[in-house]
Formats: sequence, C-alpha cells, structure tokens
Amino acid sequence: MIKKVGIIGAGTMGSGIAQVAATAGCKVVLFDAHSTVIVKSEANLERILNRLIEKGRMDEVRKEEIQENIHYARSMHEMEDVDVVIEAIVENLEVKHKVFKDIEAIVRPDCILATNTSSLSIAAIAGCLKRPERCVGIHFFNPAPLMKLVEIIPAIQTSEAVLKTSMATISDWGKTAVKVKDTPGFIVNRVARPFYGEALRIYEEGIANFSTIDHAMKTIGGFRMGPFELMDFIGNDVNYTVTETVFKAFYYDPRYKPSFTQKRLSEAGWLGRKSGKGYYSYTDNTLQTSETINTDEKVLKEIANRIIVMLINEAADALFWNIASAEDIDKAMTLGVNYPKGLLAWADEKGIDHCVYILDHLYDTYLEDRYRCSPLLRRLSTEGKTFF
Ligand code: NAI
Repeated sequence: MIKKVGIIGAGTMGSGIAQVAATAGCKVVLFDAHSTVIVKSEANLERILNRLIEKGRMDEVRKEEIQENIHYARSMHEMEDVDVVIEAIVENLEVKHKVFKDIEAIVRPDCILATNTSSLSIAAIAGCLKRPERCVGIHFFNPAPLMKLVEIIPAIQTSEAVLKTSMATISDWGKTAVKVKDTPGFIVNRVARPFYGEALRIYEEGIANFSTIDHAMKTIGGFRMGPFELMDFIGNDVNYTVTETVFKAFYYDPRYKPSFTQKRLSEAGWLGRKSGKGYYSYTDNTLQTSETINTDEKVLKEIANRIIVMLINEAADALFWNIASAEDIDKAMTLGVNYPKGLLAWADEKGIDHCVYILDHLYDTYLEDRYRCSPLLRRLSTEGKTFF
C-alpha cells in the first residue's frame, strides 16, 4: 500500500501529480532543482483549491488537509522513507539517469521508482539502476488532476509486483490505469498522430483550409476541438517535437512523418495560443481567422472520414502489435484525449469493410506506405468479424 510519495520536478506535471496524490490522502514530498519553481507550485495549488471552494466543490477543511499532505522539500534526501518516487523533470535521458541514480542511493530498497516520461523508453531509464526491476512508467496526462487516464508502462526489467502496485495505486487515486507495452508514444501519443498528421496533409494538398478541416472534425467527427485549434492549444513546438520523436523512434516509418507546415510555424515562433499566433491568431485569448469555411457536406464528410479512418488504422495496428488490449486502447483515447468514441468501437460502427475500402483507396491514389492498411483490419474484414 502506497502511503508516502516522492515527486521530483514541480513543474506542470509534478505539481499536478502532487495534487492528485495529496487529494487521495497520500503524504507527498515534492522537490524541484529550482526553489522558485517550488514557491510557484505552492502558490498555484492555493489558487486552484480556492477556485474549487468558490465553485462549491471543496471546503476550507479539505483544502487544508490537501495542503498539509504536501511537504515542499529542499533536498531529495527528504525522500528516504517514501514508498514510490515519481520523476517529472525535463525530458532528457542523461539528466533523468543522474536523478535516478541519485534517488536510488537515498530511498529504501523496496521503493518503486517511476517516471512520467512521454517519449523515452522505460527500459532505457531503468537501465541505469542497480535494481531496474523497481522502475516503471506512470504516464499522466495534462492537466493531471482533471484527466482520468494514466498509462502504466512496465519495462522489460519491471517486476510483476511493481506493476501490480502501480496499477492498484493509480486506481486508488481515482484514475483509470491502462497497461501499455514500452513502445514509442505508448498508446495515446502513438494512436493520435494521424489526427494532426492527416489534417496537415489534407491542408498541404490544398483540399481544404484550417477552418474547414477543424469544422469537419467538430461537426461530422464530434471532436471537441479541431486538429488545428488543438495544435495551437498544445503548442506547435511541443506537438511537432512529439511527432518527430515518434517518427524517429519508429525507424522513420512514413506513417508518422512530420509536416513541413508545422515545422515552419514552429521555426517562425508561431507556436499557437501561447505566442498569440499559430494556424489562427489570438487576441485576448480569442481565436481570430479570416478564412471562409467550405460548408459543402460532401467535402466535410470526406475530410472527417479520411482522418477518422487513419486514426482507426493506427488503433488497429496498436492492437495488432499487442501494445495494449482493445478495451484499453479505446479507453485511452476517450479518457486521455477526450475522443468522442473509442476508435475500435468506431470501426465496428462504421464497418470494418468500409475502413479497409477507404485505406485501400488512399493507398491506390498515393502509392505511399503511409496508407497501408493494418493486417488486423484486413483480417477482420476477410473473416467478417468485428473488434468487440
Ligand atoms: P516542466 O518544465 O513544467 O517541469 C519540469 C521541472 O523539472 C522544472 O520545474 C525543472 O526545474 C525541474 N527539474 C529539471 N531538472 C531537474 C533535476 N535534475 N532535479 C529536480 N528537478 C529538476 O515539465 P513538464 O511539462 O511538467 O514535464 C515533466 C515530465 O513529464 C517530462 O518528462 C515530460 O515529458 C512529461 N510529461 C509532460 C506532459 C505535458 O503535457 N507537459 C504530459 C505527460 C508527461
């Protein structure tokens, strides 16, 4: 049973994870290399909890309980008696190795050492430890207190006991844990790639402008945000880097090829909302555009169908390669990135044959490996079966 949690890195993710653990009743020791970050983290939590009180979702007593559960540490040495450490520092293997080696010398031999990495392999992080079997990936989504999904990634070195405790702890914290193979992008950052990549491709081919593609995905697809709005929200620098990392990690599989359009925006500093300009402009945080939406129903349907089928193909391929179970792949996309439906259930609904037909049509048109149909989709189609 996990009672005391150490968190290294008090930035966006570390602070959010600390709030989740403290709210669930765990004692938290939160450390950051920069003391100013710690001060900011404490002030942010105060603001967040006050807002929850204003909304009537919490009272003063509960707020104090949560705050008292978090100890802002001056040194990692204050983590000597924690049950688990969750690392949420910069995404750099060398820096992470140094921190993992340092923390291993401080904590108990049975303490779990988890990483919140989005893109590094868990095996590579565990590789620097004396006891690599205690290392596991516990990947939260931003903002951690709001997003239900947590991907749990055992490395090839991870022990069954560590995996079991990690899964149980995340459930105790009120989150949905899905077990994922240690592969690039895990579930969400892999399966979501076509949402951005295919939208960019449709734009680059001149089929439609940003506003039309976003409109199609929201009205026909039922997504809360269109791909371009979402990339502007995430930041074109961040989103581009994730795509490039996944592309390289998959040995340059053309399916994950990044887009020049996004690269140029990132290079120009058109990062999206945070810089005031991206695919759209933002004044007082309100989206501005002079584009005209093409409202032709046929065009909108074609755009939405092409992107959704590419997403379905990615989800099917993740299942084909045993990255996670069909249930967990669908849960991951609805709870991790708020998709309106699980992609595999969506494939069943659309018809497997229809998905294969669209993919084969794209492949015949472009003769590019990017559009190859997953062997699993094709097999289901041949056998007349469905995912669920
Ligand atoms: P951030 O930049 O907000 O916070 C990182 C913090 O780590 C900074 O406050 C920094 O001072 C601290 N730090 C750096 N080196 C340190 C060291 N050696 N010892 C102690 N503290 C150190 O970054 P963010 O966004 O919170 O990301 C942290 C990790 O979580 C990364 O591995 C990232 O890939 C992952 N992640 C990020 C998500 C996001 O949407 N931002 C989502 C899921 C995972």
